[in-house]
Amino acid sequence: MVICKSPAELEKMHRAGLLVWGALDEMRTMVRPGISTKDLDDFAETYTRRNHASPAFKGYRGYPSSVCTSVNQEIVHGIPSAAKRLRDGDILSMDFGVELEGYYADAALTVPVGKIAGEREKLLRVTRESLERAIEKVRTGNRLGDISSAVQQWVEKNGFSVVREFVGHGIGTRMHEDPQLPNYGTAGQGARLQEGMVLAIEPMVNSGGAAVRVLEDEWTAVTADGSDSAHFEHTVAVTANGPWILTRPKEATGPVW
Ligand code: MF3
Ligand code: CO
Repeated sequence: MVICKSPAELEKMHRAGLLVWGALDEMRTMVRPGISTKDLDDFAETYTRRNHASPAFKGYRGYPSSVCTSVNQEIVHGIPSAAKRLRDGDILSMDFGVELEGYYADAALTVPVGKIAGEREKLLRVTRESLERAIEKVRTGNRLGDISSAVQQWVEKNGFSVVREFVGHGIGTRMHEDPQLPNYGTAGQGARLQEGMVLAIEPMVNSGGAAVRVLEDEWTAVTADGSDSAHFEHTVAVTANGPWILTRPKEATGPVW
């Protein structure tokens, strides 16, 4: 069952969303060769608790950390570690969510570490653009398949592939609500979007094949072929005026990350 939110609830989710954005925006400035993924996780947890919120992922199905940090061929759910130091030329996905006064927000981005190769630049750009194209479809009367299809079309047109095993999702008083939102699908199909629906839209894009493997830690998802992967996400509300990105400041314009 899809739960639509009132304007007051959307404001609460936006407050949670601004904490997610604030933490990630700071973390992206911390990213450089030599920093460990645990350093980033520690920052996010401290920032969240200082702001009277809770990290949404910590303890979720036994997940041990506040942030998911996924490097290069890691797609999602990489576990931060003091032993994992970033290196020049890596790409790092940071996925983070918080709960504030009973409401959740969830967002992610992939950033370069130092100077990265041109093909990695393209992967990051195309994945971010696929999210932007998806968000553009978040309008009353459109259907879920319009969002899914916008991601898939842009990704495949650029020679990359979308991951099938993980999907975007509704979000509100729980981190995962209905509906599920795959990053592939057919325009014009699926449920109609209604005012007050909130979706975490999160394309996961591989530079090679779509297939996924999960490591022995039972969390880290990697590309089966060892190719690179990128992940961008925002929590987005359907409003009468079109999409409202809850995980960034209202006055923000330009690229979504
Ligand atoms: N953004 C991810 C999701 O929506 C975060 C969940 S990771 C977990 O599913 F660690 F919390 F499981
Ligand atoms: Co999510």
